[in-house]
Amino acid sequence: MNNHSLSTWVEEVARQTQPDRVVWCDGSEEEYRGLIRTMLADGTLLELDQEEYPGCYLHRSHPSDVARTEHLTFICTDKAEDVGPTNNWMAPADAREKVGKLFNGSMRGRTMYVVPYMMGPVGSPASKVGVEITDSPYVAASMRIMTRMGKVALDHLGSSTDFCRGLHSLGDLNPERRFIAHFPKERLIWSVGSGYGGNALLGKKCFALRIASTMARDEGWLAEHMLIMGLEDPEGRTTYICAAFPSACGKTNLAMLVPPASQKGWKVWTVGDDIAWMRVGPDGRLWAINPEAGYFGVAPGTGRKTNPHAMDTVRSNTIFTNVAMTPRRTPWWEGMDSSPPEGLVDWQGRPWSGKEPAAHPNARFCSPARQCPSASPMMDAPEGVPISAFIFGGRRAKLAPLVYEARDWEHGVYLGASMASETTAAATGKVGVVRRDPMAMRPFCGYNMGDYFGHWLDMGRGHANMPKVFHVNWFRQNDAGKYLWPGFGENLRVLRWMHDRIHGVAKGRETSIGILPEDGELDTSGLGIEPQAMRELFSVDRDAWLEDLVDQEQFFGSFGKQMPEGIWRQHHNLRERLKG
Ligand code: GTP
Ligand code: SPV
Ligand code: MN
Repeated sequence: MNNHSLSTWVEEVARQTQPDRVVWCDGSEEEYRGLIRTMLADGTLLELDQEEYPGCYLHRSHPSDVARTEHLTFICTDKAEDVGPTNNWMAPADAREKVGKLFNGSMRGRTMYVVPYMMGPVGSPASKVGVEITDSPYVAASMRIMTRMGKVALDHLGSSTDFCRGLHSLGDLNPERRFIAHFPKERLIWSVGSGYGGNALLGKKCFALRIASTMARDEGWLAEHMLIMGLEDPEGRTTYICAAFPSACGKTNLAMLVPPASQKGWKVWTVGDDIAWMRVGPDGRLWAINPEAGYFGVAPGTGRKTNPHAMDTVRSNTIFTNVAMTPRRTPWWEGMDSSPPEGLVDWQGRPWSGKEPAAHPNARFCSPARQCPSASPMMDAPEGVPISAFIFGGRRAKLAPLVYEARDWEHGVYLGASMASETTAAATGKVGVVRRDPMAMRPFCGYNMGDYFGHWLDMGRGHANMPKVFHVNWFRQNDAGKYLWPGFGENLRVLRWMHDRIHGVAKGRETSIGILPEDGELDTSGLGIEPQAMRELFSVDRDAWLEDLVDQEQFFGSFGKQMPEGIWRQHHNLRERLKG
């Protein structure tokens, strides 16, 4: 390694954190096995049944450290208005004082791992290098699954100073001394006091979304909380789609969709399940890469019936976190299909009481992406894939219909900006509260979201080939609280309507909110859904929409002069159409 700025930084950090040992990770298989051995020896990992689950382990985190902590996540810029009302701001000098000092001696008695990693395919001009320094072997091992880690990243970097610095220490895991601080100008991340995925695997939300979104704004591209999938039709033509749903709202499931038997000839290819980096190509289209190399997915609700490809993916080489364990030492969680076996041990290692969930609702699996049976052959393509459609969606028991389409780009950006969704267990705090979550990026946009909407609008200017934009809601409920739509594999029927719109086959029907499927355009044959339920799935309750616009107005108003004209125009136009 002959990168002077990297070695200087590593030395500085070692002086401050005082580790017993410094290990430079090369990303090799032997090194990974060594990390696993270390963690089995000290109890950080438990071995699962190696016959049924080869290469699989269970990690139990500290019970107060099981999800992202948005209230402890900060963007550190010179001025508070640079981060806007949806982010927490901390002045850089305060951060150095408050957060910086928590690293003093924080690695004493521990090993410091230097983890170089690459976000994006090898050889892609869109790929970027990060280096995470961490005192957690769990983080180092997880980074090997989630990224292209080690030598390959250092080779890509060469002697360049162009890399994202991430410093992570478990500290004492006390939420009182937990901070995730981002310095976009310096491309620097400080994370202390948490070992949880999104807080600690710094390549993921911290670099690939918060820091990368600020780079994307400056350089004219997009870094988004989106899955990437290829939809192959019976003629063998593949159409690529990106979808943004908030955390634990269905990205992994849609990205790995298995078409039901009734949908002959259709196939879904998985390119990514959480993050997309996109640039305008020479053809004026948006081209997307998945910066990640693994899946850090929600376990509960994942089963043979709902997501068989995820079940196959996690059968080997997987680190599970906070799932339950059967007496046969196999992982178990709610929604896995099998009923809970006798002698189940819950996520905290206690005999399961039967009263509380056995697996933590935000229990996760961490698996290599290539193990997914639907892994796209384009996953490693340096140029990425050309995107024909964006899907926005959230969890909304009421209001939003199953699917509708934006009238044009500006209206599409407005659909993303006006998204709202019920909160989930992916972040600490109350679950099931509707909150505005534009483009599913509220927790991940590294700058003022008013400017972010402006950046989205700009991306469409002068580019005739921007993707079509759709909005979906798999989670609409009837008055008895039952989901109206079967979801999962059957979502393919909705994708087919989008496909027909993209390729000019379906006409659609103009309504006040956007374009809905014309009667007969959405194939519901054999689903056994009552016509009444179908009507409800597509009903537009005018008064409820007008009420939502009041909340929207307040939210958009909170961005003040940062809010672009185009979004207000769409907001007012919708109100006029609803009233008309
Ligand atoms: P993050 O990894 O947190 O960003 O989440 P994600 O968007 O990838 O969410 P994921 O696909 O893991 O879905 C989380 C939850 O949503 C699981 O409990 C699923 O069972 C549920 N879910 C996903 N798709 C559907 C659907 O079509 N219908 C219904 N009813 N539930 C769904
Ligand atoms: C999310 O919360 O959106 C996730 C999981 O994808 S984490 O990596 O923990 O952020
Ligand atoms: Mn996510």
